Amino acid sequence: MQVLVIGSGGREHAVVDALSRSPQVDKIFCAPGNAGIARQAECVAIRETEVERLRDFARENDIALTVVGPEVALAAGVVDCFREAGLRIFGPTQAAARIESSKEFAKELMAKYAIPTAGFRAFTDYEAAREYVAGRPLPAVLKYDGLAAGKGVVIAASMEEADAALKDMLLDDKFGAGKVVVEDYLEGPEFSFMCFVSGHRVWPMVLAQDHKRAYDGDKGPNTGGMGAYSPLPFITEEDRRYALEHIMQPVADAMVAEGCPFRGVLYGGLMKTPQGIQVIEFNARFGDPETEVVLPRLKSDIVDIFCAVADGGDAQLEWHDFATLGIVLASKGYPGSYEKGAEIKGLDAVSCPVYHMGTKCDGDRIVTAGGRVLFVVGRGATLSEARAAALADVARIDCDNLFHRTDIGHWALDD
Ligand code: AMP
Ligand code: GLY
Repeated sequence: MQVLVIGSGGREHAVVDALSRSPQVDKIFCAPGNAGIARQAECVAIRETEVERLRDFARENDIALTVVGPEVALAAGVVDCFREAGLRIFGPTQAAARIESSKEFAKELMAKYAIPTAGFRAFTDYEAAREYVAGRPLPAVLKYDGLAAGKGVVIAASMEEADAALKDMLLDDKFGAGKVVVEDYLEGPEFSFMCFVSGHRVWPMVLAQDHKRAYDGDKGPNTGGMGAYSPLPFITEEDRRYALEHIMQPVADAMVAEGCPFRGVLYGGLMKTPQGIQVIEFNARFGDPETEVVLPRLKSDIVDIFCAVADGGDAQLEWHDFATLGIVLASKGYPGSYEKGAEIKGLDAVSCPVYHMGTKCDGDRIVTAGGRVLFVVGRGATLSEARAAALADVARIDCDNLFHRTDIGHWALDD
């Protein structure tokens, strides 16, 4: 079959890589793709949110399966549009994707179905929000209700910081007019539990952990993620089962009960707190960079699972035992402003898989084209072997304008 992947980052590169391992796939297209994806798929110059153009491309090119990467495409209604046209697509409808695009929808769903999560209140009025936060313990957790590219969450240690964030979000409409959800502050290690979901059916993936802060020691600003690894030794099988039975399965069931059955990847951003496992957030798609360390561990044919989810069929998931650990190479200055266009050399000297996050071709050179640029995935019998493999290959990549963290996996590896 011919397949189409929508997106242009490391997550989509990992999906393309997994599809390329399937004997059922003859040809992969990726819209818009990037310089690394172009080595494994034909890149098509259509942006993620050009929903009708994507549909027309799929129709005209005999695409048997489309896989959606980014949330912007889901929120733009790409799945609804393809389904109306009778095209097979992997991903949730716009209504089901609200579990990610609206924090309030997600929090109310969790409250209604008794899913463990931090207590919360939603506000549209700045004065009311300010008064509520002032009467509660610090730090205050403030979340802008809508898509804000991972930058809509502020953990404010002081009332001044909280006030500035509330002003940004409710008075100055920094991310657009919207609401703010104020949450109780939780503490503990975070982990990502992604499941393939088709209505009531839930197929869990192996667990991964992302590293959101820019610098070693979990310091510096929050980013889209600077590294990830799998498996997670500090999450026990009992924890995992609890999360599946008390969080992921009931949420899948709740979405059916609410009239918006979920089909796609349901991503639970979870925290192991002293009071048990709690939900921090849901995403309606594969996590980035978690996908780049999880899919290489998938032994089964990914086409079978994509089709089972899209069509409501059956599939089995099997996983490799080896560990994966991936390190992001990001443009200097990221997540703030950074330059693009720096040449990347040494990619041919690398033996680990390298997923491209933000690159493009410039003649026969590959140059940086985003904040997060490359993701090098080490593999080993243990996490520490996987880390050594990734670090060795990171050192072979030659580019003046990149930086990376050296301590990915420290939660699991260091005392
Ligand atoms: P989110 O976009 O909701 O995943 O939030 C981004 C990050 O903020 C999370 O990965 C957590 O590290 C932190 N965070 C979010 N909600 C809370 C909370 N209720 N308590 C403590 N930290 C939180
Ligand atoms: N790695 C976090 C996310 O994909 O949202």
